[in-house]
Amino acid sequence: TRVLDVSAAGLVLLVGVSGAGKSTFAARRFRPTQVVSSDHCRALVSDDENDQSATDDAFHLLHTIVDRRLRRGLLTVVDATNLHPHPRQELRRIARDHDLPCVAIVLDTPPDLIRERTRNRADRVLDDDVTTRQLRDLRRTLRRLDREGFRAVHVLRGPEEADTAVVRPVP
Ligand code: CTP
Ligand code: MG
Repeated sequence: TRVLDVSAAGLVLLVGVSGAGKSTFAARRFRPTQVVSSDHCRALVSDDENDQSATDDAFHLLHTIVDRRLRRGLLTVVDATNLHPHPRQELRRIARDHDLPCVAIVLDTPPDLIRERTRNRADRVLDDDVTTRQLRDLRRTLRRLDREGFRAVHVLRGPEEADTAVVRPVP
């Protein structure tokens, strides 16, 4: 069983393609208020969590929530794909502004399982080429994540590791 240490006062970024299981992972291990989801923020500003034209507003809101929670020293989990360096850097900067650490938890779920889940999902319709692009972005992300300045990078390879991993908040 993997034990993932995360700072009890700090930021956690989930990283993974759509269908990797980020929201499922977060719901099983964190309180609902600890999880800030880009899809939920999209829904809050547009009434449609799939409305990609609302992305800028959604991330503005997400950053504001993260900032205000970290100001209180509250453990905060960002449920977004986090597949691009610049948005990750922005989130680490918010944590650093509060002198708090930032940890990454990567759900590296096998592509075949991703595609199977994506086909069977009722809550989201995804183009196959979007998945392909995200899978490529994930490989690139995994090559550089260790050098980005996270306190820790935890990579969960496959559904068994993701399902059994235990998150341990540490002081
Ligand atoms: N799923 C599953 N078993 C898991 C994790 C997820 O069967 N251990 C299924 C979920 O029921 C869901 C799909 O896989 O239908 C995607 O999981 P989800 O947690 O929603 O993935 P996310 O990474 O949050 O995807 P998105 O970025 O699109 O929100
Ligand atoms: Mg999700």
